[in-house]
Amino acid sequence: MPREYISLRAVTRIYQRAHSQLAALRDVSLSIGEGEFVGVTGHSGAGKSTLLNLIGGLDRPSGGSVVVGGTDLGALDEDALAVYRRQTVGFVFQNASLVPALTVLENVMLPLVPLPDAEADKLRRVEDALAEANIEHRASHLPGELSGGEQQRAAVARAMVNDPRLILADEPTGELDAENAGRILALLERLNRQGRTVIIASHDRRTIAGTRRVLHLREGTLVGDGGRTAEPRPEHGDTGGTQR
Ligand SMILES: Nc1ncnc2c1ncn2[C@@H]1O[C@H](COP(=O)(O)OP(=O)(O)O)[C@@H](O)[C@H]1O
Ligand SMILES: [Mg+2]
Repeated sequence: MPREYISLRAVTRIYQRAHSQLAALRDVSLSIGEGEFVGVTGHSGAGKSTLLNLIGGLDRPSGGSVVVGGTDLGALDEDALAVYRRQTVGFVFQNASLVPALTVLENVMLPLVPLPDAEADKLRRVEDALAEANIEHRASHLPGELSGGEQQRAAVARAMVNDPRLILADEPTGELDAENAGRILALLERLNRQGRTVIIASHDRRTIAGTRRVLHLREGTLVGDGGRTAEPRPEHGDTGGTQR
């Protein structure tokens, strides 16, 4: 087991509704080592996005603690949490969510804008990220001029330009055909091989087939946590079964 990097202790996230409460996560405890490649699966509504958002500092738990790299996120105020997100985490979402009025290069530059580094250094880092994500030929284009696969590669370039220790990918291939999905997953795997901790959430087992450990959520509860060396057995499209 590599050095512990992420630790969740008795994490609960309760959403308040008009006349009821919904526990999106219930008493989840887990530990993820530095440099692990982890998949999170479970049906729609199982709590996958909630889990990633808590680890990424986009949301706060109703109870329990989330510690990343020795920092208890619960102890950070909003400004410090924003710094954590910017410096430590690279997010990839289902929709590339690029800024439509900015070129690909400008979009990938965005995370670097607040940094004091020299412009030439920033530009070099953007160019490296664009090359790594295989999208440098579209640098001067607007997102609307790109295919879905190209937009998502630009989004991965943006997620990695800050050299984050942690990559969180939430249904990163949800809008892509098989070929483009494969390219995004290969890219995420490469980022992991470079030493980053990578967590991919998807209801689709194929999306997390390359990960080396699978966390299985069902109705907010962690019902499976398994390492593996081979491909998972086909489950006839059922993503709800307990993985044991
Ligand atoms: N902002 C919110 N307000 C209320 N309920 C929410 C909110 N976000 C998620 N939920 C609920 O929490 C549960 C888990 O959601 P989510 O983490 O998005 O699941 P998944 O990503 O596995 O599909 C679902 O029942 C969802 O409806
Ligand atoms: Mg989700």
